[in-house]
Amino acid sequence: MTASSAPGRARVAILTDETGWHTTRLRRALARRGLDGRCADLEDCRFDTSRPGTGIVIPGFGRELPMAAIVRGVAGGSLEQITKRLGILHALRELGVPVYNDARAIERSVDKSMTSFLLHRAGIASPPAWALESEAQARRLVMAETAAGRCLVLKPLFGSQGKGLQQVGLVDGTPVPLPDLAPYGGLAYLQRFVPQPEGPGCPGFDWRVLVIGGRAVAAMKRMSAHWVRNVAQGARCLPAALTPPVAALAEAASAALGMDYAGVDLVPDASVPGGAQVLEVNGVAAWRGLQSVCDFDIAQAMVDDLLRRRLGHDVATAAVAGVTACAG
Ligand SMILES: Nc1ncnc2c1ncn2[C@@H]1O[C@H](COP(=O)(O)OP(=O)(O)O)[C@@H](O)[C@H]1O
Ligand SMILES: [Mg+2]
Repeated sequence: MTASSAPGRARVAILTDETGWHTTRLRRALARRGLDGRCADLEDCRFDTSRPGTGIVIPGFGRELPMAAIVRGVAGGSLEQITKRLGILHALRELGVPVYNDARAIERSVDKSMTSFLLHRAGIASPPAWALESEAQARRLVMAETAAGRCLVLKPLFGSQGKGLQQVGLVDGTPVPLPDLAPYGGLAYLQRFVPQPEGPGCPGFDWRVLVIGGRAVAAMKRMSAHWVRNVAQGARCLPAALTPPVAALAEAASAALGMDYAGVDLVPDASVPGGAQVLEVNGVAAWRGLQSVCDFDIAQAMVDDLLRRRLGHDVATAAVAGVTACAG
């Protein structure tokens, strides 16, 4: 059975391990377009090839398929559990169900080393990065960077919300060696640090840019005295002008990873053309912080993009009409 032959077409799956603010916004945006958004936890989705049919079961959909799926959260788990959860997303695509973002795009963005590789390959400004399994090699790299007066950021390969980041190399004039890699799964993902001009009364910032359907639609500055400027780490969200170079970088990054929508993190860097470098691309991006400084409904813009671009629906573009006000 394919999505097009499935009855119950008016139902969209919101795949999430957490219902709350984001799922409420998505369900409301879907309802405005006459669609029923149903939340299902990927943990509870299963393969079942014992009967004729799709071979997968999405709770709440019986033996039917959703007309589309929006991926809102993929909970952490064992390698086997994550493989199955992503497998469900791959299976939905194979069955003809548009998945927003597609499993392949999510995989590319969740793996920070693959993100760095794809950005590099596309010629997009991004700090040099390394992914090394050999602790000896990683130590040699950190020593060489220290000698060259540079600082690196050690990140969990699948990290998010600024958790587990550490500076190594020459940190504020002090050499800092590589820590034990066991908490990092035995992998050194290292990215060269991009310093920000900051000081008392002048906290540094980075940008979060939201790209929907290939277009940068909103931006905010995340401001903090700490160098890790995630909202989850206490950074303050401020409205930001979406300047053409930053918008172009974010759009190129989203395209390089094949994203339907993406939250792109950039740091200002006056030494590169465009004045910014892309740090990472989020394929399951939260948007509550950004929504607080934006005057159009982000969930509606996402839903309308899904309907228009992936499902061929004729939807008016009202949702992003306020984008100029937000970007200014
Ligand atoms: N190479 C870097 N140079 C400067 N700041 C960085 C660098 N890497 C990370 N940061 C800071 O840490 C934050 C979190 O890093 P990021 O790579 O986005 O990981 P996460 O997935 O945890 O959000 C960034 O938004 C930025 O403020
Ligand atoms: Mg980030």
